[in-house]
Amino acid sequence: MTTQERTQVGIIGAGPAGLLLARLLRVHGIDSVILEARSRDYVEARIRAGVLEQGTVSLMEEAGVADRLHREGLVHDGVEITVAGRRFRVDFRELVGKTVTVYGQTEMTKDLIAARLAGDGPIVWEAADVALHGIDSEQPSLSYRLAGVDHTLVCDFIAGCDGFHGVSRPALPATKSRTFERTYPFGWLGILADVPPCSDELIYASHARGFSLASMRSPTRSRYYIQCALDERIEDWPDARVWDELELRLGSDPPPRITRGPSIEKSVAPLRSFVSTPMQHGRLFLAGDAAHIVPPTGAKGLNLAASDVHYLCRALIAHYEKRYDGLLAAYSDTALARVWKAERFSWWMTMLLHKLHPEESFEAQMQRAELDYLAGSRAAQTALAENYAGLPF
Ligand code: APR
Ligand code: PHB
Repeated sequence: MTTQERTQVGIIGAGPAGLLLARLLRVHGIDSVILEARSRDYVEARIRAGVLEQGTVSLMEEAGVADRLHREGLVHDGVEITVAGRRFRVDFRELVGKTVTVYGQTEMTKDLIAARLAGDGPIVWEAADVALHGIDSEQPSLSYRLAGVDHTLVCDFIAGCDGFHGVSRPALPATKSRTFERTYPFGWLGILADVPPCSDELIYASHARGFSLASMRSPTRSRYYIQCALDERIEDWPDARVWDELELRLGSDPPPRITRGPSIEKSVAPLRSFVSTPMQHGRLFLAGDAAHIVPPTGAKGLNLAASDVHYLCRALIAHYEKRYDGLLAAYSDTALARVWKAERFSWWMTMLLHKLHPEESFEAQMQRAELDYLAGSRAAQTALAENYAGLPF
């Protein structure tokens, strides 16, 4: 037996992209249904970075879910960069008049789920075998199974917000899609610990032993990363070894105040640059990781999901309120124009800060020269600040 439901926008995925889109559509009186493969507990337990550009904060304000973000988010005016023990600061506020807000993606997701469940509309958790149908028609639909019962959700539009491993991107005709990809020959070993951060702001460190990053979730919870081999085994990295390596790579004069403590999460993740074009076909529109992936060095992943959602929501509002479909037709080109700039910046930060070449190679010399130029140039720091704090939506 199949039950049939209907909505205006069918959204696949209850990550930041799907949840933020659903909330913004609701604010503008547009109905949606979210189909999520995982459980609520699983989605809310995912540990992910959260360095929010001002544009993303503004979208959360527009969505009416920014109260806790403003209470608990940490507003940062800049970042620190350490190069072979020499540290300098890039001051976003002074250089480009912008700040970033450190607020875990997990928290952002919880805030959006709470708003959704307070009456915005359904999230179908543990929706199995979601499949897309009729994306070239004026009445596409989503089929899925829930607790053994088959369902069909008829909608006007489908938003594919189901991340890199979702079913939306494969639904676009392969003959009309192109993908661009760069994988990196190293990974990031991340550790989460309930210890105070070693610095008031994030520290990105380039070192002969490899890249490291000192970040945070709150004044009492720290997040650190070290560049490692792709096949690194967690069991070879007891906490003490991680803390020792962080002190070596983040070392500067004066040294950062690294407080050690037991890890509550430790994992190795690969880095990837990926873009699939176009980001739309017929009545299907991709947003967020479903269409693109950036290496985490530039802290752009969450913010690109937000800017995609901004463009898609604006286009859907124009359709429903003004019967104007020009923004929908231009969605992919509009979103990709910003995606490619963020891909470039994330790739540039990754190539600049990681140990990639033999110490005495020409390429390593070029890295050192660029870092030395960055350390001493207001123009170079302004370019970094402009991109890190977020290009305009
Ligand atoms: N059916 C239903 N839901 C699915 C399916 C499917 N076939 N496949 C994936 N999903 C769900 C996932 O369980 C996840 O909850 O889609 C959601 C996708 O969320 P994200 O992967 O977080 O992607 P997005 O919302 O675009 O957010 C991008 O997340 O991965 C980080 O660094 C990334 O910060 C960026 C942000
Ligand atoms: C994080 O806090 O997890 C984080 C911060 C900045 C990055 C990447 C990850 O560039």
